[in-house]
Amino acid sequence: MIKVALIGCGEMGRTHATCLARLPGVKLLACCDIDVSKAQELCHNFSVDRYCSDSGDIFRDPEVDAVYVLSRTDAHFADCLQTLQSGKHLFIEKPLALDLDQAQQIARAARRTDRLVMVGFKFRFYRLIERARRCVGKPYLAAVQILDDPWPADFWANQQDKGGGNVISQGVHGADLLRYLLQSEPTAVYAVGGNYHQKTGVVDNLNAVFRFANGSSGSLVVGDCGRAVLQGKFSCNLAGEAGTVDLDQRFTRLGIQLRDGTLRIENGEEDGFFLENQAFIEAIDKKLASPCAVENGVMAQAMIKAAIDSAQHDAVVEISRDLSGSVNLHSRTY
Ligand SMILES: NC(=O)c1ccc[n+]([C@@H]2O[C@H](COP(=O)([O-])OP(=O)(O)OC[C@H]3O[C@@H](n4cnc5c(N)ncnc54)[C@H](O)[C@@H]3O)[C@@H](O)[C@H]2O)c1
Repeated sequence: MIKVALIGCGEMGRTHATCLARLPGVKLLACCDIDVSKAQELCHNFSVDRYCSDSGDIFRDPEVDAVYVLSRTDAHFADCLQTLQSGKHLFIEKPLALDLDQAQQIARAARRTDRLVMVGFKFRFYRLIERARRCVGKPYLAAVQILDDPWPADFWANQQDKGGGNVISQGVHGADLLRYLLQSEPTAVYAVGGNYHQKTGVVDNLNAVFRFANGSSGSLVVGDCGRAVLQGKFSCNLAGEAGTVDLDQRFTRLGIQLRDGTLRIENGEEDGFFLENQAFIEAIDKKLASPCAVENGVMAQAMIKAAIDSAQHDAVVEISRDLSGSVNLHSRTY
């Protein structure tokens, strides 16, 4: 039985606790939140008896095998490093950290342990996204759109020092999805965007085009200028040598048009949260490789930082990974 503790008992705490409750071979042992009433409430709802407000209690608990870091983004850095120091497996919600430097430090700490570290890029686990990816064969281009309604000014994720705003917070999902769909690494980006309306000063809307090592191109539109009525908050298009696919309505509807004459629409579910939890627990149990390695979190964060740098300096920003695994950005103004 794999024993798990959650740090952060808000929306993601509830979501992951619900997924874990459906899985065999795993027990939710303890919940932690700086607001202890939230930890208490989650424990009550899932019949768990250990709750606390000090994450140190989780790290010191010898019975805990794996920690889910589901706290506010500015708390991820310390919680992740301490989870790894305490010798426990780590599941971390996106983004890895508030900035690229902290994300790279988490990745370095992860490389030094033999513990399983997984980043919560749920879109990789949607059955419909996997199907879309397989349909098109060799990919040529992808367009991912994440457009939300305006985020409230008092929302923590919309503060520069707590969540970084929606382009950082949600953009990493889109950046990772581009890599996943195009099956390659980004080499450069040019982007336009900035702070259009948020009083908190965060970058709130961005349009970025990435060049990938396999010659494909990926564009990412991310912002909170308003949700697309027909497409919904999450949508994407992918073209490849076998045809084209498009997904809309939060990736629950897939259109397929292939060169062999196939033309159809398929429907699916938002099954990524459950399937990523299943993959994490199975990987610990069977000593498998991470189903979504920490390097994915670093690269997604680097892509968004590169795109913001590009927009702010009107520069093409080159993206590369060195032999140590660190991601480096290099601006080229013209
Ligand atoms: N994968 C996804 O689709 C997805 C969706 C939403 C949020 N997220 C990510 O999950 C994380 C949590 O988001 P949420 O929507 O659950 O936010 P939330 O505000 O609902 O919950 C966050 C909780 O963390 C607690 N907290 C803050 N600092 C803490 C600390 N130092 N130690 C312990 N608890 C602390 C808060 O009291 C709060 O209860 C964020 O990093 C966010 O980016 C991912």
